Amino acid sequence: MDGNGRWAKERGLSRSEGHRAGAEAVRRTVEACTDVGIEVLTLYAFSSENWKRPKAEVEALMRLLERFLTDKLDEICERNVRFQAIGQLDKLPKRCQEALHRAIAKTAENTGLTLVLALSYGGREEIVDATKSIVRHVAEGHLDPAMINTEVFAAHLYTRYYPDPDLLVRTSGELRLSNFLLWQVSYAEIFVTKKLWPDFGRDVLDEAIEEFSRRERRFGDVSPP
Ligand code: FPP
Repeated sequence: MDGNGRWAKERGLSRSEGHRAGAEAVRRTVEACTDVGIEVLTLYAFSSENWKRPKAEVEALMRLLERFLTDKLDEICERNVRFQAIGQLDKLPKRCQEALHRAIAKTAENTGLTLVLALSYGGREEIVDATKSIVRHVAEGHLDPAMINTEVFAAHLYTRYYPDPDLLVRTSGELRLSNFLLWQVSYAEIFVTKKLWPDFGRDVLDEAIEEFSRRERRFGDVSPP
């Protein structure tokens, strides 16, 4: 969800105010995704590398996340959204972890949009964690190394409960993956918009879906005759 900082700078506001506007765009986008009937939405809210940011910005982001999970919980619940999270969640402040677990528990039975928050998340870290998990299973005698294939590997990723993304949306015109779902986006269609994240909403989502529907997905195969 890139561009909160630039959005704020353009308006002479602080970066934290940009993130606040970003949180409002999250609310809007979740609403738009439930209207459209999207099944799974994964939002890259805080990366493994974001811990390097100034302490005040990290704290502001964590407070914002906690407030979002608390204040917006009823609204999210009414929309039948199921909260989930991926990443090294034990690194988050205790209050954030508690708010997250409350939101996950309260929405566990919901059957609409699955909203996955990627928090303290890094694709490389996820692959390393999956490798450690596989090694543990082998060492304990639960897994034969000869059985390891892409399906077995994927079953040890944080995302084992969700399908691979069909569409990857990147805001602010950035043309890189930034350590996001490195394994899972192998065949995702990429849509890049110049819009900054706080300006994201139904119109850009519709544009992305429209472009997605025009792509021919071959998954390495050839087009049908
Ligand atoms: C990257 O843009 C954005 C982040 C590191 C934080 C994203 C957080 C939110 C959108 C709000 C909180 C999230 C939830 C789920 C309530 P940037 O700040 O690096 O922007 P810049 O590249 O323009 O500086």
